[in-house]
Amino acid sequence: MTKDELISDLNGDIAYEFAAAIQYVQHAATLTGGEFQSINAELLVHVNEEIGHANLLSEQIDYLGGVPTMDVAERQTDSNSRKMLEQDLEGERLAIRRYKERIKQAQELELYALETVLKQILADEEEHERDLMEALGL
Ligand SMILES: [Fe+2]
Ligand SMILES: [Fe+2]
Repeated sequence: MTKDELISDLNGDIAYEFAAAIQYVQHAATLTGGEFQSINAELLVHVNEEIGHANLLSEQIDYLGGVPTMDVAERQTDSNSRKMLEQDLEGERLAIRRYKERIKQAQELELYALETVLKQILADEEEHERDLMEALGL
């Protein structure tokens, strides 16, 4: 793992963060059903937190001498509300896997400030996962 490879992976993370924010905006607007009323407001909180993550990662990439991406990863939606929340849960679980890997890489390169930022982001993603699992009754 070199610093350049880490920058490339972090840019991949940013693209997923932008995609997640866009996906949450669309899902919050189109989600229907009384049982999903409370998660709807929570999805809008997630929108801002995902954008916050993209912002933190962009700053870190700049510190590392890289150029933060403006790319957006693939988004998913569905006409079924439950399916949409399952897509969101899948995205959060992917994020958790990616950030756990990224924390190990930051440690390997002795980038401890980055490690701290990544752990803060990971804690948010774990909270997002719990919100969605609760809404889905899992
Ligand atoms: Fe995020
Ligand atoms: Fe998230």
